[in-house]
Amino acid sequence: MRVISIVNQKGGCGKTTTTVNLAGALARDGASVLVVDMDPQAHATLALGIDPDELSENLYEVLAEPGGTDQLSRILINVAERIDLAPSSIVLSALEQKLAAERHNARTERLASALDAMPTRYDFVVIDCPPAVSLLTFNALRASSEVIIPLETSFFAIDGVQKLLETIALLTDRIGHDLTVRVLPTLYDGRTRYARQTLGDIRELFKDLCFDSVIRMNVKLREAARHGKTIDRYAASANGALDYASVAMELAASPPDFRQADAADDTQSPEPLEVVVRFRDEAAGDVRIAGDFNGWVPDKGVRSSIEAEGPARVWTKVLTLSPGTYQYRYIVDGEWRVDPENPESTPGPMGQPNSVLHVS
Ligand SMILES: Nc1ncnc2c1ncn2[C@@H]1O[C@H](COP(=O)(O)OP(=O)(O)OP(=O)(O)O)[C@@H](O)[C@H]1O
Ligand SMILES: [Mg+2]
Repeated sequence: MRVISIVNQKGGCGKTTTTVNLAGALARDGASVLVVDMDPQAHATLALGIDPDELSENLYEVLAEPGGTDQLSRILINVAERIDLAPSSIVLSALEQKLAAERHNARTERLASALDAMPTRYDFVVIDCPPAVSLLTFNALRASSEVIIPLETSFFAIDGVQKLLETIALLTDRIGHDLTVRVLPTLYDGRTRYARQTLGDIRELFKDLCFDSVIRMNVKLREAARHGKTIDRYAASANGALDYASVAMELAASPPDFRQADAADDTQSPEPLEVVVRFRDEAAGDVRIAGDFNGWVPDKGVRSSIEAEGPARVWTKVLTLSPGTYQYRYIVDGEWRVDPENPESTPGPMGQPNSVLHVS
């Protein structure tokens, strides 16, 4: 079962549209899919043709009640061939308060436990998250092995994405499992220069962590949602259907550990090397490193240690890199900075300076 969260705290970037239509495309290719609607707005539930107000039970019962996590199967609704839905409702917004007294671990592992206890095994579980980093989002990430971040090419701000990547990095530390993070450009209008440039920036920033597929602007996607249907059922030849079919294909072709598998198979590529960088500071409490080598997820795939050196502390970061040129920054107590000991920097795709590392 591949469990994939669709996450971005920014509203309106295409999370729900991606959840529902990716599920549609995967099911069309023969996969069995469960859509989990973790957003109290219940947009994914509505877009799959279900009126949340008419249901007597929804995810709230599963996530909030004692013993509820064994009951996920009970609330599932079959919405289309090979697609089941775990529906949401506005009451989900009360979950945070309801579970306030519980320990962090117990609160955030509800969905993971519910999926584990479920007797049916799906090929894919796709989780729609609310536009907030909340308990619901933590539950989703904790249950997932993969994350897709939809990025709007019509309005893109790097700061929001950096914040999100930091959150994911801190969370993976805490839950002790790794997440494969990929970004998907959405709401693309190739007629505008801004969108073309933003798409280029996103590709340069995330390299192979960016899907090759791009979701174009397509009014049929909006119409399909209003009719409670996935795009492949509503308008099979629309651009929206073609674009999500192509994301599904990419996803099916790349299991979560695809990067390691690729590296192992590729006898042509030179051996990766261990590269050590150091950051010295007297005041910093937490120092991480992020760059195009780890998809800008702070400290992902990095071995880290701290030593005292007089009044200063020295953070040692061991990176495993193939020969090439990389861009990176340090995140010092949440603030993104260039490497003060590295004189070489370059304006990154978004204009802010990045430090440059040559490995040969
Ligand atoms: N590729 C697209 N072409 C045209 N309209 C789109 C496209 N993707 C999404 N939309 C529309 O944009 C709006 C926002 O999309 P969506 O609901 O998927 O975003 P979201 O990230 O889930 O929003 P929220 O943060 O509120 O949950 C919706 O009306 C949706 O129908
Ligand atoms: Mg949504």
